[in-house]
Amino acid sequence: MKYFLIGYMGSGKTSLGKILANRLNLPFYDLDAYIEKEENQAIAEIFKAKGEIYFRKLEHEMLKNLLSESGSMVVSLGGGTPCYAGNMDLLLENGISVYLQYPLEVLVDRLWNGRGQRPIIAHLESKALLEDFIRKHLFERSPYYLQATYTISLQNETLKEVAQKVEALLQKS
Ligand code: S3P
Repeated sequence: MKYFLIGYMGSGKTSLGKILANRLNLPFYDLDAYIEKEENQAIAEIFKAKGEIYFRKLEHEMLKNLLSESGSMVVSLGGGTPCYAGNMDLLLENGISVYLQYPLEVLVDRLWNGRGQRPIIAHLESKALLEDFIRKHLFERSPYYLQATYTISLQNETLKEVAQKVEALLQKS
């Protein structure tokens, strides 16, 4: 089975994916890292040099590459992945997806300090602007995220607690 972790930036998809893959004894892939390796360029650099449309096309192609690999795996997607190019349908056809849903305030707090590393939000100069941006973005993206096989509502759990919750969910499936 292929397990997909989806959710907004800052929801801990990569850290959780590693833990989960370990516990389930499955290979782990992080789509962003996979793209960076294939392109030999950091995501922020790809955005800067070639723009978001180029990135979205690449992201779609790389997702299809990953999905064409046989066997079980845990995959952490980028925050925007499910929302472009029919990717959410591909995820639904190819495995079980889990949406890590966090309240707006938690995402704002988590993303404020490190926003410089994230091309989509790097330009936002105040916490109020960041909050506005994420609120609108979640409004646009939630219809995709909420199609996931499972949505898990989180707040301030530790990574270990989140891993236990997700593992329990997946064991039921
Ligand atoms: C993006 C999220 C990033 C990365 C890119 C675009 C987005 O992934 O794919 O910067 O559109 O939300 P993470 O959610 O892993 O940070």
